[in-house]
Parts: sequence; structure tokens; C-alpha cells
Amino acid sequence: MRDKLRVAVIGASGYTGAETLRWLYGHPAVEIVGATAHKHAGKPLAALWPQFYGQALVLQNEPPPADAYFLCLPHGEAAKLAPTLTGELIIDLSGDHRLPQAQHQANYGFAREGEPWLYGLPELGGERLLGAARIANPGCFATALALALLPLSGKISGRVAAVGITGSTGSGATPSETTHHPVRAENLRAYKVLGHQHVPEVENAVGDIKLDFVPMSGPFRRGILVTMTLPAVPRRLWESYYQHNPLVRVIDRPPELLHVLGSPRADIGVIEGEAVTVVQCAIDNLCRGAATQAIANLNLRMGWRMDLGLDRIGAVP
Ligand SMILES: NC(=O)c1ccc[n+]([C@@H]2O[C@H](COP(=O)([O-])OP(=O)(O)OC[C@H]3O[C@@H](n4cnc5c(N)ncnc54)[C@H](OP(=O)(O)O)[C@@H]3O)[C@@H](O)[C@H]2O)c1
Repeated sequence: MRDKLRVAVIGASGYTGAETLRWLYGHPAVEIVGATAHKHAGKPLAALWPQFYGQALVLQNEPPPADAYFLCLPHGEAAKLAPTLTGELIIDLSGDHRLPQAQHQANYGFAREGEPWLYGLPELGGERLLGAARIANPGCFATALALALLPLSGKISGRVAAVGITGSTGSGATPSETTHHPVRAENLRAYKVLGHQHVPEVENAVGDIKLDFVPMSGPFRRGILVTMTLPAVPRRLWESYYQHNPLVRVIDRPPELLHVLGSPRADIGVIEGEAVTVVQCAIDNLCRGAATQAIANLNLRMGWRMDLGLDRIGAVP
């Protein structure tokens, strides 16, 4: 038996892939056996990302043999690659395996074969993940929205309106017309209003709640803050739901992006009013919304504690 689980990151030249590697390098129970890129294949990791100075890894074209793969690829590419991999575990960070076929086609505009994979939101129950072979990691907005709503599952029903603002790394490393610095910096704009592709995965996860979601792009690099105004419900619902969770903190004031950047933790602020309760969730889209959530899923799948390798303090300004 091997001492450590052999892991590989597919798409390590991109933002979520590089962030996943950053955390895997500090994980005590895994051995990184390789990482891939597409147009950047052949480059040393540290040449592309100087943050990794001192690591000898070279980005390969083809996935190496491994026990577990993290797929950090654009939508569509992950579904194409997955059937060719023989690892005992694949965690897909893309949207390719999160939704049943009809919802997938409607949201992503192309068909996907087969059933969706096990939805890897650790807060839906770690025991579900034990021994899983294929895990679909939630989307970044979906994570913040679902964490805010989960304690209400079965307790309220009907429509909930939410607004969320995301940083520019949410769009990946390749610039586009809407992510280019001059239109993003010092600007704030809504997009995909009432039509964001993460809404169905949240609704599937939280039960009898329908979401009217307004996503916005913000002029900062990392982080997501979602806000929703709910019927008056007490903060203790969130406190008791997350009381044993090392990766969610419930507070009685508005959460701030600065307090979760570079951190695997979500901060949920619950403000109780007379007639309504305002709930906000702040996460780092590349950590709790992608890389560290995938590693928490790996941990639970292996029967390790949820925050193994993740119990580090986030960045301070
Ligand atoms: N960014 C976020 O906050 C976030 C959060 C949660 C989930 N996600 C999802 O995670 C996935 C990766 O996102 P990202 O932001 O890391 O994207 P990204 O920065 O654009 O990185 C994409 C990666 O995929 C590789 N790639 C591109 N085209 C490819 C192809 N045709 N075949 C094989 N590899 C290809 C790229 O390699 P080269 O650069 O070498 O070409 C790069 O390594 C996406 O599906 C995204 O929706 C993103």
C-alpha cells in the first residue's frame, strides 16, 4: 500500500488549477505526480507561476497515471477528457457533471452524456462522499448561495431574491471583451440577470426554494459576496447548522471579502431585523468556490477530516 494518494491537476496553467496545486503542495496525505496544461504545456510550473519558485514540476500535455485527478478545464473539455482517465477518483471543477442532462443542455448549451456526478458540496453531508469515484465540484456563485440557503432547506419555501458580486478571476485566465481591465476596473455591472447557469445547481441542492439571482462583476480580483433578504428567521438556524463545520463561520455582522481571501473558509453574516433577516456569504471564489472545496471533497471521500491540509490562515491585507 502506498503512503500517499497520487494526485494530478489537469489544467494547472489556469487559475483554479494553479490554486489547487498551491494547496496540494501543503497537503500531508497526497503526492503530486503531475500537472497538465494546453497551450502552456512544456513550461516549468514556476516559469508560468513564479509563486511556485523552487518546485521542479513541468506542465505536461497528457495526464500522468494517478489515483485522483482534479479537472480544472473549461466547460466541455472536462466531459471529453473524463472517460479517458482511469483514476479511482475524479473531481471535476467545471460545470460539466453538476446537472441532469436536460438542465445541463439548457444551461450550458450543449449535451452531456450520462448521469450527473455526486454533487460535492461538503455541507450536504460528508458521509455521502465516502468512497465516491466521481465528484462534481459546485460552481463558485453556487457555493456562496447554497451555503447561505442550506440551513433554511425544508424550513422556508418559495422565491428568494439574491444579488452576488464576483471578482475578475471568476472568469478564468483568458481575457475577453467583458473581462478586459478597462471595462472591469472602476466599473460594476450585472450580467446573466435571472439566467446564471449556477442557479439550477443551487435549487437542486437546497430543496423547495426558487432563486431570482442577479450576478454582478466587480472591480477586484478575488472573492464573491452574495446578499439575500429573507423572511424573519433567527441566526441560530445558521449557527446550529454550521456549529461543527471548520470551513464555515457564522457571524452577527456583514462579512467582508478581505477576511476570506486566500482562505478555505466561508463567512456567513446574519443580520436579524424586525420583519426580515439579511444573510450574506463571503468566499474566495478560487478557494472555497473551487480549489479548497475540491480538496475538502477529496478529504471526505478518503475518510480524512474535512479540513486536512486546509487548516491555514488566509491572506491579510
Ligand atoms: N475561476 C473561478 O473562480 C472558478 C470557480 C469555480 C469553478 N470554475 C470552473 O473551473 C474551470 C476552470 O476555470 P479557470 O478559471 O481555472 O479557467 P482558466 O484560468 O481559463 O484555465 C483553464 C485551463 O484549461 C486549459 N485548457 C484550455 N482549453 C483547453 C482545451 N481545449 N483542452 C485542454 N485544456 C484546455 C488551460 O490550459 P492553457 O492555459 O495551457 O491553454 C488552463 O490550464 C472552468 O470550468 C470554470 O467554470 C472556475
